[in-house]
Amino acid sequence: MRASFIAGFLALAASQATAQFTNQSAPFTLVLHSQNATINGSTLVPCHEGAAIEGLCYGSAVAGAPATQYNFNYSSASTPDPKIGVVGILTYELRGGNFNVSSPMELSYNPVSNVAVPLFTPGENSQEVAFDAANKLAIPGYLDDRQIASGSPYNPALYYRWYACTTNAGYTYQTLAWVMGDQRPENPTCQKVDVVRVFV
Ligand SMILES: *[C@@H]1O[C@H](CO)[C@@H](O)[C@H](O)[C@H]1NC(C)=O
Ligand SMILES: *[C@@H]1O[C@H](CO)[C@@H](O)[C@H](O)[C@H]1NC(C)=O
Ligand SMILES: *[C@@H]1O[C@H](CO)[C@@H](O)[C@H](O)[C@H]1NC(C)=O
Ligand SMILES: *[C@@H]1O[C@H](CO)[C@@H](O)[C@H](O)[C@H]1NC(C)=O
Ligand SMILES: *[C@@H]1O[C@H](CO)[C@@H](O)[C@H](O)[C@H]1NC(C)=O
Repeated sequence: MRASFIAGFLALAASQATAQFTNQSAPFTLVLHSQNATINGSTLVPCHEGAAIEGLCYGSAVAGAPATQYNFNYSSASTPDPKIGVVGILTYELRGGNFNVSSPMELSYNPVSNVAVPLFTPGENSQEVAFDAANKLAIPGYLDDRQIASGSPYNPALYYRWYACTTNAGYTYQTLAWVMGDQRPENPTCQKVDVVRVFV
């Protein structure tokens, strides 16, 4: 068990330190699936959270905005873990007056909350993601600390802890959010959703 634990961590560390996600998928939109008919089917649209920083909004802040396209950048070099599949990053092309820049999605954490906000920010920092066979967006997890006492917490799996919440990562909007851990989000506005890619 210990060998696979270490091998898993080395693979993870290597992927995070050196991953070059230079293969790019075809463009797709991101659609919310929810038990709440009001938000079910909403497309996620970038919304201004700071200089060149965009959240993933739904609802009134982006009403009428065209459905934005995103890409999945992945690496053909990494050998996929069968429980996780191909990993990569979610990207969005930010268009300025005289520049275009491909921005990766990362999570913005608030240490006093269990609700994080995904943001597209130009630069090197990114959150590794995967899409499953049903095109649902997931975050791969490798260490399950609920299993820490078992001595074998290394347990690669896909997690789907996406919620639609009113958040403030710069401005107050209705955005996609990620809940850390398997508890309920402490933000009372959060509603469970899945995020599905629809190729254009
Ligand atoms: C994603 O891949 C495309 C094509 O290789 C590349 O132009 C772009 O810079 C990449 N984006 C990021 C954030 O790495
Ligand atoms: C990724 O890109 C490389 C270089 O262009 C190409 O040889 C390879 O077939 C691509 N892999 C996939 C899975 O598309
Ligand atoms: C459904 O979503 C809307 C918009 O976020 C919200 O106002 C409403 O309270 C939700 N309904 C339920 C039953 O949660
Ligand atoms: C959500 O939308 C899908 C696709 O349009 C539909 O099949 C499903 O019944 C909807 N669910 C709810 C709760 O509105
Ligand atoms: C940015 O991309 C768009 C769409 O591909 C293109 O029309 C535009 O010329 C690009 N702008 C720059 C500065 O490269």
